[in-house]
Amino acid sequence: MCGIVGYVGPQSAQNVVVDGLRRLEYRGYDSAGVALVADGKIASAKKEGKLANLEAVLAADPLPTSGTGIGHTRWATHGAPNDVNAHPHLSDSGRVALVHNGIIENFASLRSELEVDGITMTSETDTEVVAHLLGREVDNGADIADALRTVCGRLEGAFTLVAVDAQAPGRVVAARRNSPLVVGLGDGENFLGSDVAAFIEHTRQAVELGQDQMVEITADSWTVTDFAGQPAEATVYHVDWDLSAAQKDGFDWFMRKEIHEQPRALADTLLGRHAEDGSLTLDEIRIPASELRSIQRIVIIGCGTAHYAGMVAKYAIEHWTRIPCEVELASEFRYRDPIVGPQTLVVAISQSGETADTLMAIRYAQEQGSKVLAICNTNGSTIPREADAVIYTHAGPEIGVASTKGFLTQVLACYLLGLYLAQVKNTKFGDEIAAVMAELQTMPDKVQEVLDAQQQVLDLAAEFADNPSVLFLGRHAGYPVALEGALKLKELAYIHAEGFAAGELKHGPIAVIDQDLPVFVVVPPQGRDMLHDKTVSNIQEIRARGAKTIVLAEADDDKVAPYADVMIGLPKVSTLLQPLVATVPLQIFACELATVKGHDVDQPRNLAKSVTVE
Ligand code: AGP
Repeated sequence: MCGIVGYVGPQSAQNVVVDGLRRLEYRGYDSAGVALVADGKIASAKKEGKLANLEAVLAADPLPTSGTGIGHTRWATHGAPNDVNAHPHLSDSGRVALVHNGIIENFASLRSELEVDGITMTSETDTEVVAHLLGREVDNGADIADALRTVCGRLEGAFTLVAVDAQAPGRVVAARRNSPLVVGLGDGENFLGSDVAAFIEHTRQAVELGQDQMVEITADSWTVTDFAGQPAEATVYHVDWDLSAAQKDGFDWFMRKEIHEQPRALADTLLGRHAEDGSLTLDEIRIPASELRSIQRIVIIGCGTAHYAGMVAKYAIEHWTRIPCEVELASEFRYRDPIVGPQTLVVAISQSGETADTLMAIRYAQEQGSKVLAICNTNGSTIPREADAVIYTHAGPEIGVASTKGFLTQVLACYLLGLYLAQVKNTKFGDEIAAVMAELQTMPDKVQEVLDAQQQVLDLAAEFADNPSVLFLGRHAGYPVALEGALKLKELAYIHAEGFAAGELKHGPIAVIDQDLPVFVVVPPQGRDMLHDKTVSNIQEIRARGAKTIVLAEADDDKVAPYADVMIGLPKVSTLLQPLVATVPLQIFACELATVKGHDVDQPRNLAKSVTVE
C-alpha cells in the first residue's frame, strides 16, 4: 500500500515529510513526492524510483521553506510507476495538491466528466481525477475542508486522501474510507500518516480515523468530522510500539501482518472489476474479446506458490469455460520444447513479476506465437511489461518471503479470468457468472472469519513444534491447497512436509503413515458426495494406521468429525472457491510453528523474495 505523510508545525515540512516517507519505505513503493504550501503557492517535487531520487531532485532544486506539507510513496495500481503518475497530483489551477492511497472504483466516469469540462489529464492515475474535482470546488469558492467532503461524497472504492490548499497555509485536510489514516498529536505541531511509523519519532499520541471520517489539522488543533461535516467521535491513544513494530502494525512478522491483510487484499483485487449486473470488466486485459474467443487451450505457468495458484485455477477455468487448461512449472515448461501457438493463451502468474524462470517461459511462449496474460502484484515489473495483457492483483507490497496474500489474490485473479473468459465465450449465463461474483464478494468476510478463529491453529503449532514431518492431503481444488500448505511449512519451519492428492494415498504414500504422524486433510464442502465422502474414507484409512488427523472442513460437517483428532471449521463456500478459506489456517500454522522454533519468519534461510536467476 502507498505511504502517506502530512505535517503542520514550526519544523521544515519538507524534512518532516521526507523523513516520514523513509519510515514508510518498508511498505514498498516505486515513486515518491512532496508538496508544500509556501507564499500562496503549491511547491512540489516528485520522482520515480526510491526516495534518494526525490532527495536528489530536492537538493538540485530546493523547495521554499514551509511548515505545511504532504508527501507520498506510491505502490502503483492504476498507471505505470513514473514521474508523471507519482503523487502529489495538482488541480488544474495548481491551487490544490493531493496524495491518495487506495483505488477509486468510479474514476473513469469522473474522468470523462472532467474532460467534458475541458480539463486535460496529465497522468493515468485515478488520483489526478480527485485532485481536479477538489480544485474545481475550491476554485469555485469552497473551503478546502468542505470541498473534500463534497468530493468524497462522489467517490466509490477505497481511499485515504490528504490535501493542501495554496490559499490555506497552516492547514492539512484528509479523509478515509476502507484505507487507514492516523493523526499524530504533537506539541505545537500535528502529523498525518498512513500508519504511526510516519511520525512515531515525533509523537506517540495518536488518533485512528474511523470509516468515512475527515480530519483537519493545524499546528495546534485537530478536528474530526463525518462526511456530512458533523463532529465525529475520535479517541486519542498512546503508541507503545517501537519503530520496527510500528512498521508491522504491531505484528511480530510482516508475514503475520500480511496474513491478516488478506481480507482487504481480496476486497481491493475485486474493486472496479464488476458492473452492477454482476458482469466483469477487466479493462487491463488488452486482448480483444474476438481473440479470446478463438483460444483453444490455456497453459498456466508459474513457480512455487504461484504454480499452486495456477493449479487451483485449472479446476475453475475448465469448469466455467470448457477450455482445456494445463498447469506447468515455468522451469519445466521452458525447456521441454512445449507445443504452444496462436490458439494457446499462456497465463503467467507471478507476485513479483521478476521471477526469471517465469520470464524466460513467457518469452519462449511469445516466440511461438502465443498471447501471454500476466497475473501479477507488482505494477510495471518485467513480466507484466512484456506480457500482452495483465490482471493486477491489488494485495499491496508483500514483504514476507513466504507468500500469503500474494497467493490468495492470485487465486482470486484466476477466478476473475475464468469468469471473464466464460462471459466472453458465453459458456456460462450472465446470472451464473453474477452468482459466482456475488459469492466472491463475500470472501473477504469469510477469510476474516477464519482469522478470527485462529487461536486453535496457534495452539496446534505449539503442540507440533517438534514433529519432524507433516503431511497434507486434499482433493480437487483442495489438492493444490495441500501442496501450498506443505510448501509454507518447508519454507518456514525447515521440516519435511509433503502434500498429496488424497486419492493417491493407496498408490504408495499411505506407507509413510505412522503413529501420531500429523496429517492435515482439506475436506471438500458437503453436498458434493463424490468428493466429500471419498475424502472422509481417506481420513478413516490414515486414522486406522495411527495418524493424527487435523481436518479442515465445514464447521457443521458431522460426517467427518468422528475421524478428526482436530477439527478446524471452515466457513461454507463453493467447492471451487474453498481454497480462499482453506489455505489460511495452513498459513497461520506454518508461521506460528516457525515462530515457536525461533526461526526468522520474514527472511527464511536460503530463500529470496524474488528469484531473479534461473
Ligand atoms: C512462496 O511462498 C515462495 N516464496 C515462492 O515459491 C514464490 O511463490 C515463487 O518464487 C514465485 O515467486 P513470484 O510469484 O514472485 O513469481
